[in-house]
Amino acid sequence: MVEDADAAKALIVQVIDVQFAAVPGVLEELLRTLPDGGELIQGEDIDPLEIAPHITYIQDASLLVCKIRATFENDQLSPSSSWLPSRSQSLIKKLSVPALMKLAKVDGNLPIILGGTKDSSLLTIDASAIDGTLNIITGKKGCGKSHLSKLLMVSLVGYKATVVIFDLNGEYSSLGMTQDGKRNMYYDKIHALTPSQNFKVGIDQLHLNVVMGILVHALHLPGTSAREFRRIWKGLKDKGTLTIAELGEAIRNYNCNQHVRDALASRFYSLVNSGFFTDNAAEATLLEESLMKAKEAGGAIVINLKNTSNVDRQIVVEYVLGKLVDSLQSWKLKATFLFAEEAHLYLRETYWDDIVTRMRHFGIFTTFITNQPDTIQETIYRQADNIFLFNFTNEHDLDVVSRAARVDAETVRSIARDLPPQYCLTLGRVVRDFPMVTRVRSLDLKTMGETRLFFT
Ligand SMILES: Nc1ncnc2c1ncn2[C@@H]1O[C@H](COP(=O)(O)OP(=O)(O)OP(=O)(O)O)[C@@H](O)[C@H]1O
Ligand SMILES: [Mg+2]
Repeated sequence: MVEDADAAKALIVQVIDVQFAAVPGVLEELLRTLPDGGELIQGEDIDPLEIAPHITYIQDASLLVCKIRATFENDQLSPSSSWLPSRSQSLIKKLSVPALMKLAKVDGNLPIILGGTKDSSLLTIDASAIDGTLNIITGKKGCGKSHLSKLLMVSLVGYKATVVIFDLNGEYSSLGMTQDGKRNMYYDKIHALTPSQNFKVGIDQLHLNVVMGILVHALHLPGTSAREFRRIWKGLKDKGTLTIAELGEAIRNYNCNQHVRDALASRFYSLVNSGFFTDNAAEATLLEESLMKAKEAGGAIVINLKNTSNVDRQIVVEYVLGKLVDSLQSWKLKATFLFAEEAHLYLRETYWDDIVTRMRHFGIFTTFITNQPDTIQETIYRQADNIFLFNFTNEHDLDVVSRAARVDAETVRSIARDLPPQYCLTLGRVVRDFPMVTRVRSLDLKTMGETRLFFT
C-alpha cells in the first residue's frame, strides 16, 4: 500500500517481480571492485567521505516491479489508477492478505478455505462468487488441478449445491471416503454413475430431442436421415412398441433410400454397442432421481467416463447435458455446477459457445479443468470469471492463458512460471481481481489422483 497522506488516498499495488535496481554507475562500480585476474592492486583504499557502505547497499538494492490494482480512498476501493502518489512523501507498507481481503470485501456467508498464503494466513473465498460463473482450472500435469476441483466440489456440495462431474480418469467416485477408507460426511451425497454398469437409460424413457441430440451431435447423423429416424421413432412410440429390438427391426424394414437406411443402421449399432441403453425398466437408472436427491440435500453426480470409449463418451455426455437442460428448463432444478475434466475429449464443438451463453442462462455453471490450455476455446477464456492457475513454464501455454479478459499477461507470466506444485494463482471474481497465490490445502478424502507407476 502506497499511502499519500496529503492526497488522503493510497494506491494498492501488487509486487509481480523482484529485480536488482539498475542504478547507473553501480555496474561500473561493481566491475571496478572485482579483483582482476588475481593480480593484486597495490595501494590503500581511501574513503574520506565513507561512502563505501552506501555503495554496497545501492548495489544490493532490489527493485519491486508492481502492478497497480486499486485506489483506496474514503474507506473504499476503486479500480482507478489515474493518479500517482508523491514520490518523496508517500509511506509504503506491506498489506497482509487478510487486511487486503477485508478491504476488497472478499467475504460472505459461504466461506470456502482454499489454502494458506505466504504470510501464513488463509485464503478464503465465498461460494457465491462461483455461483453463476465460468471457471477454468489449468496448469501443468500433476500439479494439483483435480485436487482443487475436488475441494471446490465438496465445498459446494457441503452448501447443498447440485454438482455434476464429467470424470475422465475415474478419480471422483470415492470422495465419500476418507483416506483410510471410512465413510465421511459426503458419503451419501456422492452418486457415482458408471455408464453401462450402474448407469443405463431405458429406451422408452428417452425423450426424442435427447435421442436426436445424440444421433446428430455425437454420432453425426446427417439431416435427411435424422428426419427419417424421427419418423420411425414416433411411429414406434405411438404404437407403444418402442424397444431396442423393434427399433432395429423398423430400421431394417424401413422403406427409404439405401444410403439413408445404412446411415440409420450404423448409428443404431453404435447405440446398441455402447451398452448404455436398455429395454429393461428395472435395469435403467433414473438420472432424474439422482438429480432430485442432489437437489434436496446437495450432492454430486459423478459420471465416470474412465473406461468408456470415445464415441460412447460423447453419447453419455450428450445424454447427460440434454437431461440437465431439460430439468433446468422445467424448473425441476434450480441450477447446477458442472465440472468438466479435459472437456475437449467429449464436448462437441458447438457446446463451447453454448456453455458461455445459452447454458449459463439455464443455470449450468461450468468449471473446465485441463492441463492443455489451448484445448479450451478462446471465447471461454475471454468470458471466464475465475481462473485458478497452477504452474506453467511453457511460453505457448502462458500465452493462451493470458488471453483471459480478467488477467494481464505480465502477472500470469511472472507469477505462474515460479509457482511450486500445489500452489495456485487465483484470479478473477472470487478474489475481486486481486491475484492471490495460495498453497491449496489438503483434503482428507480418497482423491485417487495418483499416476500409476511402474517403479514404486
Ligand atoms: N494441495 C494438495 N495437498 C495434498 N495433496 C495434493 C494437493 N494437490 C495435489 N495433491 C496430490 O497430488 C497428486 C496429483 O494431484 P492432481 O491429481 O490433483 O493433479 P492434476 O493437476 O489433476 O494432474 P493431471 O494433470 O495428471 O490430471 C494427487 O495424488 C493429489 O492427491
Ligand atoms: Mg487431474
